[in-house]
Amino acid sequence: MYIATSIRIRTVLSDARRNVVAISSQLAPKQYDHYDCAKARLLDARLGGGHTERPGDGTPGRRRNPPMRRKPRGAVLPMIAVQRKGEKPLHRQIYDAFRAMILERRLQPGQQIPSTRSLADELGISRIPVLGAYAQLLAEGYIESRSGAGTFVTSSLSDQFLGARPAVAGVVNDPSSDTISRVSGLLPVERTPWFPSAGAFSVGQIAYDHFPFRVWSDLVTHHARRVRASSMNYSDPMGSEEFREVIATYLRTARAVNCEVSQIMVVNGSQHALDLSARVLLDADTPVWIEEPGYELLRHALTLSGCRLVPVPVDGEGLDVAAGVRLCPNARVAYVTPSHQYPLGATMSAARRLQLLEWAHSSGAWIVEDDYDSEYRYESMPVASMQGLDPGSRVIYIGTFSKTLFPSLRLGYMVIPPALVSRFLAVRQANDLCPSHLYQAALADFIGGGHFSRHIRKTRQLYAERRNALTQALRKEFGSEIEILGAEAGMHLVVTLPPGFSDRKISARAAQEGLWLWPLSSAYVGTDVRQGFILGFGGTKAGEMPHQVRRLRKAIRGESGYEGRPKSGH
Ligand SMILES: Cc1ncc(COP(=O)(O)O)c(C=O)c1O
Repeated sequence: MYIATSIRIRTVLSDARRNVVAISSQLAPKQYDHYDCAKARLLDARLGGGHTERPGDGTPGRRRNPPMRRKPRGAVLPMIAVQRKGEKPLHRQIYDAFRAMILERRLQPGQQIPSTRSLADELGISRIPVLGAYAQLLAEGYIESRSGAGTFVTSSLSDQFLGARPAVAGVVNDPSSDTISRVSGLLPVERTPWFPSAGAFSVGQIAYDHFPFRVWSDLVTHHARRVRASSMNYSDPMGSEEFREVIATYLRTARAVNCEVSQIMVVNGSQHALDLSARVLLDADTPVWIEEPGYELLRHALTLSGCRLVPVPVDGEGLDVAAGVRLCPNARVAYVTPSHQYPLGATMSAARRLQLLEWAHSSGAWIVEDDYDSEYRYESMPVASMQGLDPGSRVIYIGTFSKTLFPSLRLGYMVIPPALVSRFLAVRQANDLCPSHLYQAALADFIGGGHFSRHIRKTRQLYAERRNALTQALRKEFGSEIEILGAEAGMHLVVTLPPGFSDRKISARAAQEGLWLWPLSSAYVGTDVRQGFILGFGGTKAGEMPHQVRRLRKAIRGESGYEGRPKSGH
């Protein structure tokens, strides 16, 4: 529930003691548990007096007389909304609100602010959190107290300081600024509106509703309870031996990867692996093949190395190797998603795989295989990795638990060719030293205990149902107006739009409605761009798909007056 000064909602309990005790025990942050009157009076003194209650029985904020709202003298009560049951403690909400108002000049230097008593009265809360917030603002120099006169916004706050938005204070937003590096300036500053969030069609969402929470939290709790000094120390930069053994067994059997435990490095998800690979393999201006269209976040990782991106078209057989050779035969690395091309979904044919390996061997290039969601294939068995086809170790293999388990786990792995292991180790040690212990231990047990394969079997079935529901709903709503691509595997598919649409405009507007449509055009580097959407289906229940697809249709129609011609006959 919001308590806002503007609408003056407050509960006045007849028993003032009950009021204070109830509010403070429910709402006061932990650090105030031991709060006593002496402390309140101390703060009161720092705030220039007039803030604490008259002494009573030692209970802070206790009133002798029934509460009476006092009009602030000289101070306008600012608009503050606090949430009694919000995640943030009350003192923090009040502090944040004042800080923002001061920084944004809604409260001017020298302006008087209400006494803690009147603000607490106005909000209908105990004065303890108000005192805490004021004390913090005072300590940080946002407000000052003038003896006998009250509390004021500090009059000497510099202009430079003011006007800054609190959430981004100190962040340089201008990429042309010469105080940040040129390559970091090439990265987008803000997240796009369609960046993964919980909701329909968001890419990268898993079936959270079917996650084995009980087993997982038991394992995490078990390992959290038996933390030893050895597991608290810096550890092997390759990752825990036990976890890597489990991963190696899984990869050999489920993904036909050719590996020894000594080649496996545990990383913080695929993105970390992509970044490490760029640091090890690339120099400024080094030419690199990337798939066109391809994975946008790979481009971000590569951009930081200053390398030269060579977009190579993909078709129904995956990356067009011959086109790559024509465009840039001497590229040093090819980044590919052969099991399930991102985003269009093709599986790289055996002929192309062999062609790519042959090119890598003859030109001394490396292949980075991003095997991000290969566990999920619906119409055939999962296809074997490309790494397993390569006797000459030119392939760096990357996998992640973001799809099979959950993305915030931030655990993934690389299989590094023996000749590169020491290089990767050196770079990792310059980077984040080693992975953290707890989740490696829990996950080793989760996999070793058979929970992982059980979970994959279960979710494969579930995602197949969600995918079927989505494709059926798309066919029903759009008929042949759109093309559906890449629905054979993974947790997303692509729909293309007829000519004349701007996928980005539709996506930006749809995001405001809680519909997360990743625009297909953003997966392209070049100018030959297809418009459409990358639609995640992992996080949406099958039964909800028809409704969500109707929303999608509305979003598209809203953008361009498009009515489509589906319905009949489908
Ligand atoms: C092509 C590709 N690679 C990797 C990942 C997974 O990234 P991470 O392991 O960093 O969560 C994704 C996630 O959507 C992806 O689409």
